[in-house]
Amino acid sequence: MQRRTAIKLAAAAGAGTILMPNQLFSNPQGASFSKSDFGEDFLWGVATSSYQIEGAANEDGRGPSIWDTFCREKGKVLNGETGDVACDFYHRYATDLELVKEMNMKAFRFSLAWSRILPEGRGKINQKGLDFYHRVIDRCVELGIEPWITIFHWDLPQALQDEGGWTNRKTVDAFAEYTNVVTKEFGEKVKNWMVLNEPMAFVAVGHMLGMHAPGDKSLKKFIAATHHATLCQAEGGRIVRANVSNANVGTTFSCSHIAMKDDDPKHEGARQRLDAFVNRLFIEPALGLGYPIDDGWKTIGKVEKHFEPGDEEKMKFDFDFIGIQNYTRIIARKAFWPPVLWANQVKPENIPGAELTEMKWEVYPEGIYKILKQFSAYKEVDKIMVTENGCAMPDKLENGRVHDARRRKFYQDYLANVLRAKKEGVNLQGYFAWTLMDNFEWAEGYHPRFGLVHVDFETQQRTIKDSGLWFKEFLK
Ligand code: GCO
Repeated sequence: MQRRTAIKLAAAAGAGTILMPNQLFSNPQGASFSKSDFGEDFLWGVATSSYQIEGAANEDGRGPSIWDTFCREKGKVLNGETGDVACDFYHRYATDLELVKEMNMKAFRFSLAWSRILPEGRGKINQKGLDFYHRVIDRCVELGIEPWITIFHWDLPQALQDEGGWTNRKTVDAFAEYTNVVTKEFGEKVKNWMVLNEPMAFVAVGHMLGMHAPGDKSLKKFIAATHHATLCQAEGGRIVRANVSNANVGTTFSCSHIAMKDDDPKHEGARQRLDAFVNRLFIEPALGLGYPIDDGWKTIGKVEKHFEPGDEEKMKFDFDFIGIQNYTRIIARKAFWPPVLWANQVKPENIPGAELTEMKWEVYPEGIYKILKQFSAYKEVDKIMVTENGCAMPDKLENGRVHDARRRKFYQDYLANVLRAKKEGVNLQGYFAWTLMDNFEWAEGYHPRFGLVHVDFETQQRTIKDSGLWFKEFLK
């Protein structure tokens, strides 16, 4: 299976009709809709994460994270690349944030590197780490950009990994300590917080598929990590609410609509299994619905072994908003041996006529509409933000321009479907494009380029791509 294909995928049953076919794109900006259709209060932003952009891996007291370790293991990251330098955002944040403003984006989503702040994961605080994020936040405010903080975007301190990381329940306490430090430190200035970035991705890809840090291939570890991440998710929410006055607190999920092959009901079992794993596993315990065991992937039932008295309550938290991160879809098909989750899925390269991105993910704009409807159908969910959406395409910098027409079209088509969901009553408050600039794409290194801004990794020169210029015009 493709890395994360079973995790990030989204989509629609059968060949659905896309709301606004391209022919209807009539106005000069190339889209059939305008900014005002989304409403005055709709928030537009770009999303990033610490390890993918910061670099400065060994500077100012930052401790190592599991990604520093993983990148150094042979064969784990394409071409042996690392996030040591990445986009050098640590030194270039002031001008990088000007690019956010130039594209007329009003919000900047970034994550805090836990080991920059607590190099050992707990205990001693590194003041220089805190100072860096103060500088980033202050620069945002200066430029009129709203800072949106993700507390954890995958870079667990290595010191905690040495004690078992997410498989060790003590990590929940360390996470609480870390969250207390950062919310007390930044809570005056920052009101918008996200607890975790895509627990399904770091828990499953890191512990069961072995393709992300820490690189384990163990069902047992996956199950333990699932429960501990679920506990952190809710505990983090409680801490933000306690420490930040007027907080707007959410958490994010990678999610994908699951379609059935040929729309044939014989694939319903496979669809349910994938849906439980990909879409329901982390949100439902937070909503007070427990883990999706009975009508989902039975293996998840093993999670109960890790329960301690009171956990059912501890897993719950009423988030102010839910962050949806969507890229593509999954097509389910009846497997010969259903417990092997991956066998329940049609590989994207086998989908007839599918357009694939550099990640080999199918472009399927209607998928975002369907997944927004699915998540808004939970009566416990109030506000929704799209906290990530975007694509990696083969870009070329030529004569100072990047004509990334496919990416621009991707955004236009997905946004048309975001708008469709909003018009049909989904309580959608904003949209973050993934991502500000080309960066370190985890196990794929620097090859897939997701940015609205092109980065020359030799010179660190930035160039706004046509897609970024489209946003600039669209958001004017
Ligand atoms: C994720 C992360 C991002 C990725 C992006 C593209 O969802 O995996 O939030 O870090 O870079 O999604 O894969």
